[in-house]
Formats: sequence, C-alpha cells, structure tokens
Amino acid sequence: MAKTIQIKDKKFSLSIPEHEIQKAVNQVAHQITVDYTGKTPLFIVVLNGAFMFAADLMKAINFPCEISFVKFSSYRGTTSSGMLNETAGLNESVEGRDVIIVEDIVDTGITIEGVINSLKAQGTKSIAVAAFLQKPEALQREVTVDYVALKIPNNFIVGYGLDYDGYGRNLKDIYTVVNE
Ligand code: IMP
Ligand code: MG
Repeated sequence: MAKTIQIKDKKFSLSIPEHEIQKAVNQVAHQITVDYTGKTPLFIVVLNGAFMFAADLMKAINFPCEISFVKFSSYRGTTSSGMLNETAGLNESVEGRDVIIVEDIVDTGITIEGVINSLKAQGTKSIAVAAFLQKPEALQREVTVDYVALKIPNNFIVGYGLDYDGYGRNLKDIYTVVNE
C-alpha cells in the first residue's frame, strides 16, 4: 500500500515519488535547452508553489539566462476561488525579452492566463509556459502550456512546492488526496 500522510483534516497518499519527479523535470530542462540556447531568456517564477520546481529546473539549465519572481494568489483550500490578485511584481523590464513563465501547476488555467496577459501588456518579445504539472481535464481557458513535466488527473495534490492551506510544500514527493 502507498504511504499515506495526514495534513489537517485530510489524508493523502504517495502518488509521484521523487525519482519520477526529477526525471520529468530534467526532460523539461533538456527541451528548454534545445529551444533557447543562444537566446538568453528571462525565467519568471510564479511564487509560492513553483519554488521547488524552479530550483531543480534551473540547476539543470546551463546556458546564460536570468531568473525573477512574481507572486499572485488565487487559491483557498482545495478549490480555486477564480480570483487573481497580484501581490508582488517584477523589478526588471520584460520589454523585448524572451520570457519563460515557471509555474507549479496549470489547473483551470485562470492564473497562468492572468500572468500571460500581464506580461504581454509589458511588451515581451515572446512568452512560453513551463509548468511542473497540468490537470488537462480541469482546463477552462485557451492557454498553451509549452512545457509540462507531468500530466495528472483532476484530483487535489500536495508536495514539491504545492500546498494544502499552507502545509505540505516541503514534501519531496507528490501526494494525492484520499477521498473517504
Ligand atoms: P488555476 O488558476 O486554476 O490554473 O490554478 C493554479 C493555481 O492553483 C496553482 O498555481 C496552484 O497554486 C493552485 N493549485 C491548483 N491545483 C492544485 C492542487 O491540486 N494542489 C495545490 N494547489 C493547486
Ligand atoms: Mg501557484
């Protein structure tokens, strides 16, 4: 039986072990390397959830690039509120830059759509999205996710940067909620 953990009122069971995560992240790093070598892109990491993915991804990228961070909030508990608030922004100009957005997960697509629109309005040369996870069944917006490490079913998960009410971000594996 898979390892289970308890976070607050919910049980979660191990669904994606660390070695599978690392393999998938390295594959994304390789694809980005093939597409961007010679372009000096700006990676924009969406906090908080993408911090662990971004750290592993960037360690596997060996061409000249810059990294910056933005922060939005849209989630409460286990369902999306559908509202997007920018709580911290970029210090540097994105005008004329090849930007790669680094996101933890594309669920409904509302968050990533908001981030894309906000960057486009600032005059980027190109925008690509690199997401650690995608829940294809949950997608409600027409957004292109250029790089996806792993596609998962439409169930709530925690770990590897993703949280349940603030907890579980530090887990090195992914756990899926157990519906009782
Ligand atoms: P979207 O706007 O619905 O695409 O949601 C994107 C954001 O919701 C992500 O950046 C996550 O922070 C959060 N999120 C979506 N699904 C999950 C999940 O299963 N666990 C934890 N956070 C999630
Ligand atoms: Mg997030």
